[in-house]
Order: sequence, then structure tokens, then C-alpha cells
Amino acid sequence: MAGKLTDEQIEKNKEMVDNMIDLMPEPRRSKMMEMFEGMIGMEFYTAPASTRENYHACFPGGLCDHTIRVTQNLHDIAKVLAPNKFKTSTLNFVGIVHDLGKCGDGVQPFYKILQGQSTLWRRQRGELYETNKELVYMPTSDRTIFVLNRYGIYMTDEEFQAVRISDGQYAKTNVEYSMQETDLALLLHFADRWACTQEKQSE
Ligand SMILES: [Fe+2]
Repeated sequence: MAGKLTDEQIEKNKEMVDNMIDLMPEPRRSKMMEMFEGMIGMEFYTAPASTRENYHACFPGGLCDHTIRVTQNLHDIAKVLAPNKFKTSTLNFVGIVHDLGKCGDGVQPFYKILQGQSTLWRRQRGELYETNKELVYMPTSDRTIFVLNRYGIYMTDEEFQAVRISDGQYAKTNVEYSMQETDLALLLHFADRWACTQEKQSE
């Protein structure tokens, strides 16, 4: 569900993600679990998905909530448009990791509470978080790939492309992939984009 989350809902979302990871083949399953046991996991379950309330899922736990919605959309769309083409574990994997770069780099978080302003100021303007300027700059999808690499989680070429261009043509850096997208990349992008629309409609 979109909107502010209770501790119970955050815990329920954590269980859902754990269950999806559990279906992944080894060694991916173990490596994903190892990654989520550390700083990345902590951020994944509690971070927002954006910095401002007029973006999407800008509340504690928003990133995980958004990720689950994307993964569910991906299953729904794939069932209709590409039935039996992708394994459940593949859809779970690209859905879960597509915004992983928003968790930071495994050492430092990506999102921080906006500093230097009062809670009232932040609430009135809807500017609740800022991105961590101490991280070496890279687009979020590149940081996702960096983090997966740091934890030794390898991807197929199709998975790599889908994760790399999950923002579709909204990201200038994806223009070279235009008309070269695999089915998985197209489905993941639309699942992500549709989740944003769902979240905006329900907040
Ligand atoms: Fe996303």
C-alpha cells in the first residue's frame, strides 16, 4: 500500500522481500541474503524512494514498498504480454534490485534527512530528504550495478540491460539503448513507471 507505513507494514514488506529472495537459485539467493543482512538491507527496508513528497514514495519504507509494487506489476504484465517467457526468480530479481542504488553504496546511505531546516520547514515544502553528496557521483542504476558487483552478485546480459535502463528513455544516458531494449527491459520499465503512477494516485 502507498502512503505512510506503520512499523507492522514495514515488517510485512520485509517478509515479502525475504520470501521473493528465498525463491532465487543459489548462489544468488545466499549472496542476496548476505547483502540484505548488512547496511544495504537496513536502508532498503527503511529508506524513502525519493527526496520530495511531490515525487513518489517519499516516506520511511517507501523504497521497499515501491520495489514490491514494481515486482508485482512486473509479474502481472509479464503474465499477459510474455506468458511463460521468464522465470519467477528472474522477475523477482530484477524487480527487487532495480532501485538498489538508492540504498547507498554499502558503506554510506544515499538518502539523508534534509539538514539545516526545521521539521516544519521541510513538511511545508515537502522537501524531506537530500541525497548524500559524499558518495562518488553515478546515476542510480549505475550504483545499483556497483553494489551488486561489490557483493559478488552476477547478472545475465538481459538482467543487466533491464536494471541498467529501468528508467527507460526518461534518463538521457539510456538513449543509446533506444529500440534495442529486450523484452525484460521493456516490461521492467513499464512496471516501474506504472508503480510511480499508482503511488502518486494513492498518496
Ligand atoms: Fe523504481
